[in-house]
Amino acid sequence: MKDLSCDFPILQRRFDGELLVYLDSAATSLKPNSVIEAEANYSRLLGANVHRGVSGLSSETTQSFERARRRVAQFINADPDLVVFTPNTSFALSMIASGIRGEQYARVLVSSNSHHSNLLPWMQRFEVRYVGTDPLSPLTADEVRNSISRERPDILAINWVSNVNGANSPVAAICAVAREHGVVTVVDAAQAIPHLKIDVEELQCDFLAFSGHKMLASTGTGILWGRRELLDSLAPMVLAGGTVSSVDSHSYELKPLPNRLEPGTPNISGVLGLEAAVEYLAGLEGNWLASHQTSLSREMADLFPKIRGVKILGRFDASTHLPIVSLVPVLHGVTADMLCRTISDASAVMTRSGLHCAHPIFHRYGERGGALRFSAYLYNKKSDIHRAADALERAMHPFVKRCL
Ligand code: ALA
Repeated sequence: MKDLSCDFPILQRRFDGELLVYLDSAATSLKPNSVIEAEANYSRLLGANVHRGVSGLSSETTQSFERARRRVAQFINADPDLVVFTPNTSFALSMIASGIRGEQYARVLVSSNSHHSNLLPWMQRFEVRYVGTDPLSPLTADEVRNSISRERPDILAINWVSNVNGANSPVAAICAVAREHGVVTVVDAAQAIPHLKIDVEELQCDFLAFSGHKMLASTGTGILWGRRELLDSLAPMVLAGGTVSSVDSHSYELKPLPNRLEPGTPNISGVLGLEAAVEYLAGLEGNWLASHQTSLSREMADLFPKIRGVKILGRFDASTHLPIVSLVPVLHGVTADMLCRTISDASAVMTRSGLHCAHPIFHRYGERGGALRFSAYLYNKKSDIHRAADALERAMHPFVKRCL
């Protein structure tokens, strides 16, 4: 198995002598040296703003920024004009929900596996219905077909990969069903983009959003992609410098796409880092990433059920779930937060505990105390999963012993 950890400087850190194990990539991924360098080079060599000045430095900065847009567009097989830089997925999804013409769309079908970001913006403005009987299993095209027939939605907002347990839904098949029924599709690809190849032409969705910080780039970077006519008809959520071509005392004219949806000064260094992140991912051999991830999921599916005093939340199957697992403590007095802190401090294993911005999923399972989540990525090795399982076993030991 190829070891990419040497490209990630944080993975050389030690905590109390123990080499760090990072299993919190669903919250944010680590950055390789090439991304760190690309961002630093902006401050070192460019430093100007974009789309404003005509000085040599401004032009060079704008050219670099637009080159990054073209590279990101190519990565998802999109037209660069339809790639809007946003601060993150949440912002992009809110831009759709707040900007889409309300008179045309009334009812939204939301997948039951959704993160709050793909639920709350719809709740704020529309009547929301749900699709998906088990939020922690992949959503099926049949479930979507049945719900569309029953609910007659105008919009289908789906989460591609669950941030709670990595369930990977067949989004292309689901979008095909929605298209047959004339339903607009909005895909939250925040947890898909780090792991899967995305081609918006093949996917045939109407909108897609993802964050840079889940795919090796920095926080504060994200993408909104949409079909031209839909993106063009979105009312901008924020109007500001950069979005308009002319303004007089009582009216204004918006710029063409994508700038009309990019208010204010963007995260320029972050976008240049995102370009480097895309290069890094595109440089991985063939299906190495897919098979590496499956092997990490298998390791999780094999080791975690053996740990006494915790259970896997929902179904976890290495063939349909990416390497993101949530564990719930089942012994009195043990909480997910406690375990998260213990394995961090005693064993340098970094994870996340809580309800993972997906409260309805936890309510559905009757687990209001939250879960301890292990999320792996391309820099993790099987030995990291073993270290995490050992650390958790040790953390649980005193409580398990007490119950014997
Ligand atoms: N959505 C991110 C997570 O699942 C923050 O941790």
